[in-house]
Amino acid sequence: DTPASGSSHAKIILIGEHSVVYHQPAIALPLPAVRESVTIARREDGIQQLISRYYTGARQAGPSQLAGINQLIDDLLVRFNVPNIGFDLTINSHLPAERGMGSSAATAVAIIRALYRFLNQPLSHEQLLADANISEKIIHGNPSGIDVATASATNPIWFITGTQPISIPFHLHGYLVVADTGVHGQTGLAVKAVASLREREPQVAETAIKGLGQLTYAAKSALANDHLTELGTIFDRAQHFLKQLGVSHPRLDEMITVANRNGALGAKLTGGGMGGCMICLAPDEATATQIRLALANQGVTQSWVQPLKSEENKS
Ligand code: MEV
Repeated sequence: DTPASGSSHAKIILIGEHSVVYHQPAIALPLPAVRESVTIARREDGIQQLISRYYTGARQAGPSQLAGINQLIDDLLVRFNVPNIGFDLTINSHLPAERGMGSSAATAVAIIRALYRFLNQPLSHEQLLADANISEKIIHGNPSGIDVATASATNPIWFITGTQPISIPFHLHGYLVVADTGVHGQTGLAVKAVASLREREPQVAETAIKGLGQLTYAAKSALANDHLTELGTIFDRAQHFLKQLGVSHPRLDEMITVANRNGALGAKLTGGGMGGCMICLAPDEATATQIRLALANQGVTQSWVQPLKSEENKS
């Protein structure tokens, strides 16, 4: 038997992280260059083995970080009446973990696609989103669903929790530079921090959340009209609100300053924050390269460039 396989990719939230949890819209795009794949091969001895960069062994005996994935696999095997089927499930990921790039969602999407193929079951996109939510809930507590929607999308999306993601075309001539702080962000923790700020200082939190929502609408129109400089300003203003929500990090703040000093039109954190990745907007490829070099001189070891044109970011 040939093994069944499934794949997915990293995601970048352009704008609307955190406020999306409170029913504001967000815009996210797939980063097809950073991929994740899963293969599942049948084993006749009934053992269910997981092979990954962090852990290899019986999947149920793995570390607590695997609780989400294990629950997801358990649910699917029970649903299809094969709870004790044996297999080797191999996860091959190029996504750095806990960097706001959606690695847990990417893993869930790739596993679900591979598992449905392995069990010869048809899979709709709606079912994929619903199933991936099983592990995301365990990992993040209160996920909006945007990570999963983007990990399974081929185009940039406009996302509002509880509704189907809408594909939105980008007509922008700029480039997005994504740079890793090297600091593990913790989405679950960051989401909780915002929730607790909302209780302690509702006025401050609500102003920031609503402000981020308004900036997301403004970003949508800047994207549609190729208003690059305006989008840069929107990034800076969004970062200001995200700082007020308490989800930035000193390393993010430093890198944002370096990017803006080296020709970026604006910069912000992306994803959960408290570490993780920064994104900034470059007007052309040469500036994108200059920003990456300046960041590398400040100790940044991983960065990526993504054109902001829909045709070019197809998976
Ligand atoms: C994480 O990539 C995005 C957050 O808004 C959380 C969520 O939407 O589930 C921080």
